[in-house]
Amino acid sequence: MKIVKTITEMQELVQSYKQDGKSVGFVPTMGYLHEGHLSLMNKARSENDILVVSIFVNPLQFGPNEDFDRYPRDFDRDEALAKNASVDIIFYPDVKEMYPKEMAMTIHVQQGIDVLCGRSRPGHFDGVATVVLKLFNIVMPTNVYFGMKDAQQVAVITQLIENFNLPINLVPCDTLREEDGLAKSSRNVYLSSEERKQASAIYQSLQKSIERIKTGERNPLVIREFITSYLTDYTDGMIDYAEILSYPELKEIEHLNGNIIIAIALKFEKARLIDNVTLTVES
Ligand code: PAF
Repeated sequence: MKIVKTITEMQELVQSYKQDGKSVGFVPTMGYLHEGHLSLMNKARSENDILVVSIFVNPLQFGPNEDFDRYPRDFDRDEALAKNASVDIIFYPDVKEMYPKEMAMTIHVQQGIDVLCGRSRPGHFDGVATVVLKLFNIVMPTNVYFGMKDAQQVAVITQLIENFNLPINLVPCDTLREEDGLAKSSRNVYLSSEERKQASAIYQSLQKSIERIKTGERNPLVIREFITSYLTDYTDGMIDYAEILSYPELKEIEHLNGNIIIAIALKFEKARLIDNVTLTVES
């Protein structure tokens, strides 16, 4: 496994792989790797000749009061995990390498950011889209892997690829779940044992919503109402949002039709949990 710290070396390496007709799979991360990242790497490993993982904590996607300096970093641990996952290259630039001078322009995401988690993080997705575009131009991947747990990020990157005609295939990867359906998250450890039992209601409410849609319900307000009462009845959590939107545009809809997302954020005492499902509805 190679550790590459400069953009020039990364581009030269990838160009030589491409000349040899090899496919390049890419998993962009901010490091501090966990089970979710490892499952993306395993999928990417099985589908590509070369596997590149980037580790870069991107200052552009943190707001002024967010935790850029405190964001957890442990390169030695990440390196061991990546080696174990048969990664070929870790692209590990520093901030000076990625942003040698003030950027004269950045990407401004105009759609799908005033909903879900984007509503409370102004500018976050501009920073994500900007760094991801840079990373795509540096790693030039054939296939790129993102987890659907962060569906809003997947939606933004899907639109980035489409809007700028990037020759890259995005592979959305299923959310990893516990046996009772709770989405795996490092935040689950902050749940009390009672909250942990209740938390499976999030996925249950999503599954029951799908059943209702399958049996003919097409009014998003009815589904929203159902989720709200289900979570109120079965948990002590506070609902941050329960939204039904078009996907990947993330626009409000009056009638369920086409590709949609049902997304929930529920706040327990020490943990805010998110989950979602995407589906295609025939009118
Ligand atoms: O999901 C992340 O870890 C980051 O938002 C990403 C895609 C690596 C961009 O910095």
